[in-house]
Amino acid sequence: MTRKPLVAGNWKMNFDHLEATYFVQKLAWLLRDARFDARRCEVALMPPFTAIRSVQVLVEADRLDLSYGAQAVSVTTQGAFTGDVSADMLSSLGCSYVIVGHSERRRYHPEDDANIVDQVRGVLAAGMHPILCVGESFEERREGIALDFAVGQVSDVTRDLSDEQAANILVAYEPVWAIGSGLVATPDSAQEAARAIREHLRGTFDDHVAASVRILYGGSVTSRNARELIDEPDVDGFLVGGASLDADEFAAIARIVEKSTRKGSGRTGR
Ligand code: 13P
Repeated sequence: MTRKPLVAGNWKMNFDHLEATYFVQKLAWLLRDARFDARRCEVALMPPFTAIRSVQVLVEADRLDLSYGAQAVSVTTQGAFTGDVSADMLSSLGCSYVIVGHSERRRYHPEDDANIVDQVRGVLAAGMHPILCVGESFEERREGIALDFAVGQVSDVTRDLSDEQAANILVAYEPVWAIGSGLVATPDSAQEAARAIREHLRGTFDDHVAASVRILYGGSVTSRNARELIDEPDVDGFLVGGASLDADEFAAIARIVEKSTRKGSGRTGR
C-alpha cells in the first residue's frame, strides 16, 4: 500500500489573487529549479476563496504539478445562503481538497460535529477529499487526554461513513497549542497521535482504509523541524500555516518530504 506524502499550505486569510499569482509562479520556479519530483510528494495550496480561480488558471495554463483546494465549505448545495460557497462550486474550480473542521473554524464559527459531518459528506459527494482537522488544546494535553480527544474527534465525524467514503478522507492532526505558536509536537508525539488515529480507522473500517488514509501533522511546521517529523512512519505529510506564506520556506519543506521518500525509508510502497 502506497501513501504518497502531501505537503499542503493553508494560507488562511492571507494573499489576495495578485499575491497568490505571484506566489504560485515563484513556487513553481523553485520546485522546477530543484528538480522536484511530484510523483514522490504531492504539493497543494489552500488559498482563500477569492484566489482559487487565479491558482486554477495558472495550474492549468502552465500544467503545474500542484493541487489546490479550499479552507471551508457550506453544508448546503444551493440557494438563499448569503455568503456561503458550495462544494459543487469548489469542485467546478478544480479543487481536490477542502479543509474541514479546522480549529479556527470550530472556534470562530458555529461549526459543531454535526455541521462538520455534513461538510465531510458534501465534499465527498462533490468528488473532492476532505482534510479533517483534529487535535487537542493545551487543557486536554495537561489533563493527559490528548490522544483520546483527537481520536474521539475522528470517531465523531467518521463513524457513519462507508468504507468507500472513509478511504477518501485525509486527517490532519493539529494540536491547537502548536498552531501559530512556534511550539511543535515532538516527532514521537506526532507519531503516537497519527498511529492512534490509524488504529482507530483500522478498528472501524476495513484494512484498506487504515492503510491508505493519509494522516498529516500540522502546527508550527518549518523547514527546521520537517525532516524529523516526516521520518515517522504514520506521518504522511504536513498541513502548513505560517511557513506556507513564504515560497522559499514552503518549497524547502516540500523538498525535505520529497527527499524522505528517496531514502528507501519504506514510505513509498509501504
Ligand atoms: P501554523 O503552521 O502557522 O502553526 O498553522 C498550522 C495550521 O493551522 C495549518 O492548518
